Amino acid sequence: MKFFLDTANLDEIRDAASTGVLDGITTNPTLISKEANTFEDQLLKICSLVDGPVSAETVSRDAGGMIEEARHLAKLHRNIVVKCPMTKDGLKATKILSGERIRVNVTLVFSAPQAIMAAKAGAYFVSPFVGRLDDVGQSGMDLIRDIVTIFNNYEYKTEVLVASIRNPIHVVQAALMGADICTMPAKVFEQLFKHPLTDKGVEQFLKDWETVPVIK
Ligand code: G3P
Repeated sequence: MKFFLDTANLDEIRDAASTGVLDGITTNPTLISKEANTFEDQLLKICSLVDGPVSAETVSRDAGGMIEEARHLAKLHRNIVVKCPMTKDGLKATKILSGERIRVNVTLVFSAPQAIMAAKAGAYFVSPFVGRLDDVGQSGMDLIRDIVTIFNNYEYKTEVLVASIRNPIHVVQAALMGADICTMPAKVFEQLFKHPLTDKGVEQFLKDWETVPVIK
């Protein structure tokens, strides 16, 4: 399973990348708006910190605008994956961009039919938002199970990128279901390393070690 950080913050990315287990980055317009930098410059800085896919979102409503933005973004760095929204225009753009070998992450996916359409359009990643579905009383993880099953049934190459992750349980469930990637905020990434019994065990071992005679 690949782990992406869902952020545009360079300090968070630097810290997560230093662990050696970070595989990529996803951004969206909201995350970019939190950083005081131009879009392009921020993307290039992110690409210099992580050697893996970096998703950058288009903001046009129409396919033509998305395609133009996507071509521009894809030229910035070889690791850029362009995000198009799960709309009819977004899928028209996805089909054309995939034909040009520009990788597309179809975002804002909330149903299995949408995921199928994205795969048929040639999406490189499909991003179902589990947390936002949970927020409105639907099961985000049931959607992941359905998408993984469908993509396996038809051997679609599109990778399932689980987004809008809120906690480590989402990550474990996604792994059990065979999803390809989880993208998560830095807080959840940190939580994946931790268990209170590990901290307690380290404390106890170090305390006991102090009683071991040292050869001088
Ligand atoms: O970047 C897409 C997605 O992960 C956003 O998540 O937390 O805003 O629902 P969230």
